[in-house]
Amino acid sequence: PGHWPGVVEAYRDRMPVQPDWTVVTLGEGGTPLLPAPRLSERTGCQVFLKVDGANPTGSFKDRGMTMAVTAALADGKQSVLCASTGNTSASAAAYATRAGMTCAVLVPRGKIALGKLAQAVAHGARILQIDGNFDDCLELARKTTADYPAIALVNSVNPTRIAGQASAAYEICDQLGQAPDIHCLPVGNAGNITAYWKGYRGYHSDGLISELPRMFGYQAAGAAPLVHGAPVKDPETVATAIRIGAPASWRGATTARDESGGKFAAVTDDEILAAYRLLSAEEAVFVEPASAASVAGLLQSCADGTLPKGSLVVCTVTGHGLKDPDSALLTAPDPEIVPIDPGAVAAALELA
Ligand code: F0G
Repeated sequence: PGHWPGVVEAYRDRMPVQPDWTVVTLGEGGTPLLPAPRLSERTGCQVFLKVDGANPTGSFKDRGMTMAVTAALADGKQSVLCASTGNTSASAAAYATRAGMTCAVLVPRGKIALGKLAQAVAHGARILQIDGNFDDCLELARKTTADYPAIALVNSVNPTRIAGQASAAYEICDQLGQAPDIHCLPVGNAGNITAYWKGYRGYHSDGLISELPRMFGYQAAGAAPLVHGAPVKDPETVATAIRIGAPASWRGATTARDESGGKFAAVTDDEILAAYRLLSAEEAVFVEPASAASVAGLLQSCADGTLPKGSLVVCTVTGHGLKDPDSALLTAPDPEIVPIDPGAVAAALELA
């Protein structure tokens, strides 16, 4: 009590960690499970937001990265490498710094939100852009680490990442005293839905929860391979974090859907941006656009009748709004200029 040790120590008996390993942590996890009164009212459900933008580098990736970098260090690796749409690179850069390892990140040129790039730069990672998308970056990262064993691949194809990310499901069950009826997630490379399902299954088989949730995974309409059942060649969406056409954890994702009685569905960029604005304007939770896909999906499923009224729902919001300041300012008016006069300030608040 009092001190949160990070997810590896908090759930040590469920993590692939040896007693003599040095745990590389930034105190990740333990994020808020926040009631969402406006969304609950709109949907007739009891909705909670798992606010994973509250992690040390501002996304859920930290849950997996603490485990992956801890294992890489124990394994004697010198460097870490990842492909990324931005958040994984920010997280890898931070945890590599903490471990005293070098880090390079492979990113699609011109398609990384500003905040994420700033983080990787700040933590001293080598930023390698390629003229291609995330799927091309991941292929190159896999080939490189196959040829150079001193480099650890810290994408979610690394099972230690999945083990770390499963901690989010443990936290939700610990806090609710049960699993939700429905869990809504944005899905890109599909590591996170795979990890949540693994986490819920683990708690269920150990008798810590009696029922499993249904997993609802939402993809951007222009990058929805799991919805179509086939890879998408040129994925496109405003939600750059999930601009992915060939998810590495395809099997894990379809297993989660099938075993849980869940579904995948596509949300349009307009639906994503509407949910993005609703979250910040009504629930006071500022997320990046990809994160809003879970809430866009919730609202869509409520409208089309696939969300049973009265359900206990958790929507994970995966990344902080500060990751992508450009998206926030896109349609915003310029800040107004006022005279140095209390009356003008009060008028702005519409006080007589
Ligand atoms: N939300 C955010 C904010 C993300 O950054 C990602 C993935 C997802 C959702 C989707 O999670 O891939 O496990 O299905 N970002 C990766 C990255 C691809 O490189 O940062 P997923």
